[in-house]
Amino acid sequence: MVGIYFSGTGNTKFCVEKFLTFYENNVKAFSIEDRQAVEAIKRNVEVVFAYPVYFSNMPKIVCDFINRNRSIFSGKKIFVIATMGLFSGDGAGCAARLFIKYGAEVIGGLHLKMPDCIGDEKALKKTKEQNHLLVIKSQDRIKKAAENLKLGKPPRQGLGFWYHMAGLFGQRLWFYRKTMNYSDKLHIEKDKCIGCGICVSACPMDNLALQSGKAQQKGRCTMCYRCVNHCPKQAITLLGKKVYEQCTIEKYL
Ligand SMILES: Cc1cc2nc3c(=O)[nH]c(=O)nc-3n(C[C@H](O)[C@H](O)[C@H](O)COP(=O)(O)O)c2cc1C
Ligand code: SF4
Ligand code: SF4
Repeated sequence: MVGIYFSGTGNTKFCVEKFLTFYENNVKAFSIEDRQAVEAIKRNVEVVFAYPVYFSNMPKIVCDFINRNRSIFSGKKIFVIATMGLFSGDGAGCAARLFIKYGAEVIGGLHLKMPDCIGDEKALKKTKEQNHLLVIKSQDRIKKAAENLKLGKPPRQGLGFWYHMAGLFGQRLWFYRKTMNYSDKLHIEKDKCIGCGICVSACPMDNLALQSGKAQQKGRCTMCYRCVNHCPKQAITLLGKKVYEQCTIEKYL
């Protein structure tokens, strides 16, 4: 077995690594940003594949990874984990349908409510204590799911017709265009930027570069919120206009 994930701000990485620890010792997890990820999938039959839900859908970077590597999924047994702040309907189902199309068997699905990572939306913010409790609850659910998978009774959250309907009509139809393409909406406040380059090296899309000592975007953002949540000057926003909290998993453990 191998773990493969995408994680903007750490929630999904935390969840997949916990799952693997509870399932079996010494199982590694690779980010899709890691060059070794594709080879790791080729070498293993059982794959735990995890990602955060964006607008009730997969992040564009995840969708592109699966499509680009479609030939390596045939014959795999895949357990899908989707992390989310509130609701997704069929978060795990989004990737599961693609995997099935490319010849894999989807053996289960797990939906995990984790701290919201959208640092520039005040309405979504919870207290540190509330976020800590979310993580603890998810950890319990991860343990149970891993044990049930070992017993041959994996959960099937997000998979199947009714989950699909809930995801489609609950949210995705209204927001579909948000995840169809990469975004060019990232805003960098030039006056605040000190040109430290932290955002440039953090970006999984190579969407940021320094020009005349200031960060600039290239219009290919997968909306992972890594740069927003790590900029030391809080100079970057995406969906909102001001950074209210820089959300990273370490704050809530
Ligand atoms: C652009 C964007 C859209 C999101 N949309 C949803 C959503 O539709 N439903 C939901 O429950 N959470 C949503 N979230 C919250 C994330 O899914 C959640 O915080 C996730 O655990 C982040 O994982 P990560 O830390 O691995 O990146 C969204 C986050 C972002 C950045
Ligand atoms: S992390 Fe912030 S301050 Fe540093 S280069 Fe990027 S935008 Fe500028
Ligand atoms: S620009 Fe920022 S939010 Fe967009 S993909 Fe890069 S790190 Fe993520």
